[in-house]
Amino acid sequence: MNARSALVTGASRGIGALIARKFAEQGWDLTLSARSTGPLEELAGKVSAGYGVTARAVTADMAVEEDVVALADAHSGAAGRIDALVLNAGMGSIGPFAEFPARRFDKLYTVNVRSAYMMTQRLLPLLRSTAAEAGTAKVIAVSSLTGIASEPLNSAYGASKAALTSLCETLNTEESQRGVLATAVCPGYVATDMTAPLADQVAPDAMIDPADVAEVVVGLTRIGRSAVIPSIAMTRPGPHLWRI
Ligand SMILES: NC(=O)c1ccc[n+]([C@@H]2O[C@H](COP(=O)([O-])OP(=O)(O)OC[C@H]3O[C@@H](n4cnc5c(N)ncnc54)[C@H](OP(=O)(O)O)[C@@H]3O)[C@@H](O)[C@H]2O)c1
Repeated sequence: MNARSALVTGASRGIGALIARKFAEQGWDLTLSARSTGPLEELAGKVSAGYGVTARAVTADMAVEEDVVALADAHSGAAGRIDALVLNAGMGSIGPFAEFPARRFDKLYTVNVRSAYMMTQRLLPLLRSTAAEAGTAKVIAVSSLTGIASEPLNSAYGASKAALTSLCETLNTEESQRGVLATAVCPGYVATDMTAPLADQVAPDAMIDPADVAEVVVGLTRIGRSAVIPSIAMTRPGPHLWRI
């Protein structure tokens, strides 16, 4: 078979861009996706030139069903295998439970959960055939500690991430004996654009380094098919373990 291949969603910046770079360093073939074509193409160009890998940029909005399907099919058609499906695209939105608008709840679910479900479903035949040939194929979702340990104002986001973590767990019960193994990586606050508005509450240098999240994601691809790792919690240093 050719070089190992990954599809990384939310690759235009933050955690996803770092995951893409780490895969490229190791010679992986890549499909990189997000809504922002410019940064995506720039990253694809940089990793192709820097590491001699194939990196294709596919613009897609995870809130749009046709885009999700087209992205999955673009990867399948071009790569012909998928060793790692990294479900990293996600959005945050906070607000009091008492007032959180249903429309925002629906949007969070569509982007954070539904797109991941549909993408995995669409790529399952390719994940299975890759696992049959290469030993494993990984589904790695960047979920959140808020899906495990609740905090005020994050009812909808936390629920969407709890659902994403559950999706990985159930997938293992059905697919792990075929070598298709899923893990939800669940970090607390990570220093990216998403947490920039919280800088006055938690200093960015006290948050988890996004490179460490990327390292965990890429490290999971080195684990063989004997071990199912349903989820990994990551929290910043300090006296409270289960905290954002
Ligand atoms: N930062 C944290 O504290 C933290 C903690 C736990 C989990 N997470 C999760 O980690 C993942 C990455 O977040 P990050 O911290 O790296 O944040 P970020 O810098 O805001 O990056 C988010 C990524 O998702 C993409 N994205 C957002 N909405 C999208 C949509 N509708 N369709 C397609 N792509 C979309 C963005 O690209 P475009 O805008 O170009 O589409 C971007 O590439 C998310 O799932 C987030 O929930 C973050």
